[in-house]
Amino acid sequence: MIALFDSGLGGLTVVREMFRQLPGYDTIYFGDTARLPYGSKSPEVIRRFAVQNTDFLLSKGATAIVIACNTVSALATDVVRERAKGIPVFEVVTPAVTKAASVTEGRVGIIGTRGTVASGVYTAKMAEVAPKVKVFGQAAPLFVPLVEEGWARKPEAATIAKEYLRPLRLRRIDTLILGCTHYPFLKSCIAKAAPGVRLVDPAHETVAALGEYLETHPKFRDGLSKKSKHSFFVSDANPHSDKIASRWLGRDIILNKVILNVHDDHHFRSRPVAARVRA
Ligand code: DGL
Repeated sequence: MIALFDSGLGGLTVVREMFRQLPGYDTIYFGDTARLPYGSKSPEVIRRFAVQNTDFLLSKGATAIVIACNTVSALATDVVRERAKGIPVFEVVTPAVTKAASVTEGRVGIIGTRGTVASGVYTAKMAEVAPKVKVFGQAAPLFVPLVEEGWARKPEAATIAKEYLRPLRLRRIDTLILGCTHYPFLKSCIAKAAPGVRLVDPAHETVAALGEYLETHPKFRDGLSKKSKHSFFVSDANPHSDKIASRWLGRDIILNKVILNVHDDHHFRSRPVAARVRA
């Protein structure tokens, strides 16, 4: 079973892509809504949460894990891989950088949470994939609550988008990575604030990468159940969260509340965070 997790409901943008690109595969989703947001937390805490979320999904029978959260992908992919003991783990940074590298003329912007941008992971990854490409980061934390409020099409969203994107436009970026789960909902607003800039959606690229993996690993693919069964778990829920989930996925969703069986792994220490990205 393909398992996905995020700090909250934003990772449903990746589930939505699963429904579009790889329909039929059974999925299980966990959103850590009780401990959201991750984007403003320290790397140590995010890594601890990521391991606990992984344990939960493994206990539910995950045979592949998709880290739908950009912040976790940026800061904790290594500990998730270690914990997942050999089952395939997909993250959202590498596919997005690979796509950006293939379409850019040399200047790429990345917007995301403070944690993602400060990690410098997008810059480091781009240096591996296309060393000549320059990467400029900008944290855009207000976008998350805007999307959750359903304000993506309001004039306030347009004003905030212009403000966040101004420094990146001054850097003359030609490509922009939407480096946070919620940002695909702001695509049209961001496109207006940054005319002529190509937008890269990590959710789309990650599911495309997963699809390629399935193509090239038929034995693994054939072992996956394909009965269109989808279950959704969260660490906290309220009447509003069911509504958000159903709105975002365009179908009725029931979120099952679980209490994580948390036992702290003190040996999961944070790695020194790579060079800071200048805004
Ligand atoms: N899911 C997070 C991400 O993609 C955004 C929300 C949060 O800060 O937890 O980085």
